Amino acid sequence: MIVANTDGAKQFITNTEEFKRVKSRAEVAYQQVLAEKGLGSEWLGWRRILRNPDKESLEHVESKASRIREEADLFISCGIGGSYLGARAVIEALSSPFRDEGPEILFAGHHLGGNYLEKLTEYLEKPKADGTAKSVYLNVISKSGSTLETALAFRVLRKWMHRTYGANAADRIVVTTGPHGGVLNKMAETYGYDKFVIPDDVGGRFSVLTPVGLLPVAVAGINIRELLYGAVNKFLECEESADDILEYASLRCAFQESGKVLDVIGSFDPELRAFTGWIQQLLGESEGKEGKGMFPVSASYSTDLHSIGQMIQQGKRNMIETFMVVHNPITGYQVTGNGEEIDGLDYLSGKSFHEINSNALDGTIEAHIEGGVPVFQIVIEALDARNLGELIYFYELFTAIYVYMLNVNPFNQPGVEDYKKAMFRKLGKEG
Ligand code: PA5
Repeated sequence: MIVANTDGAKQFITNTEEFKRVKSRAEVAYQQVLAEKGLGSEWLGWRRILRNPDKESLEHVESKASRIREEADLFISCGIGGSYLGARAVIEALSSPFRDEGPEILFAGHHLGGNYLEKLTEYLEKPKADGTAKSVYLNVISKSGSTLETALAFRVLRKWMHRTYGANAADRIVVTTGPHGGVLNKMAETYGYDKFVIPDDVGGRFSVLTPVGLLPVAVAGINIRELLYGAVNKFLECEESADDILEYASLRCAFQESGKVLDVIGSFDPELRAFTGWIQQLLGESEGKEGKGMFPVSASYSTDLHSIGQMIQQGKRNMIETFMVVHNPITGYQVTGNGEEIDGLDYLSGKSFHEINSNALDGTIEAHIEGGVPVFQIVIEALDARNLGELIYFYELFTAIYVYMLNVNPFNQPGVEDYKKAMFRKLGKEG
């Protein structure tokens, strides 16, 4: 279950009449999503895939993932932006931080760092502890097939795969791309790579519940049916009513329109570090257009209290905060001690880390509200696949509604093309 606790934000609303007007815009935006009548409505496939889940594709993902899990020591997911952040978010949230089962999972294609790629191929070459070679599988994920970061990394890694595995390389390379066109479809046909389709009507940052996210997540040993089940549940619930999302969207919109420019999205559970990064992209690429939107900043606590905490507490009062809060303890791990330790921490003996962390969270929220920062808490009942599925849909719907309230198309990213054009010109690309 996901609950949006808006108490720490609502108290900052002073003009209740104006807030009522903003709230009625949220209702209109919600109806636009339901009726598929809003801007960019041809991109609402992230709802369609939950209304009518594609069983065939799901089975294909599961069987491929179980084969990879049996045979691979190392699995590389090669993609960027929406073709990478969702899988990483779910895997990091639900796996041990020191992955001790299944293939090692590495990411590539999400930047242009040559050193990383060079070291990655050296690492692939390095034998295992028993002296045998690593068994490597590679999944390239790119809807367009033309994103430079991913395409270049895939060129390097694909060559390595063909050189290493010869005729068997094709069995170890998996392509996840749009239904037709593009260089990846051509390669899959030419070399016989297994292929997964990203539906036309699902945009990158809304694609985590398609094979884009599901294959790497399943390779990590996470139950993708549970993940989907959670998302479908939330979808069905929100078809009836989405009051908490509307309240949250209205408040965020009111803050934006009253001059807040930053939304610091963090969690006291380090497992959610990549998840807040996924939300950052989902919101940032969706709302940051036409001079509108709040800049979403991903943070991880309590680590970042020792870096940006000062700024949040006493810096320019131009921000709001959103905390992802996991309600049930992820572990019962406790502080031990017999009252004779020299470190002065015996007052914490017998307490769980969850309890200590929760006190740190509550203390931080109290202090930040006192410091003038409106605070939202998005409470996740437990950190498991089902709740994460719910959370994914919660944020997808929230994003669509919120961005419609700004009268902006949430599903395109025209500004991203500008850097690409300038970069390609400098690189001397023709055409
Ligand atoms: O949300 C988006 O659409 C983007 O972040 C894309 O996912 C990202 O640019 C990668 O695109 P592609 O999958 O075409 O390589």
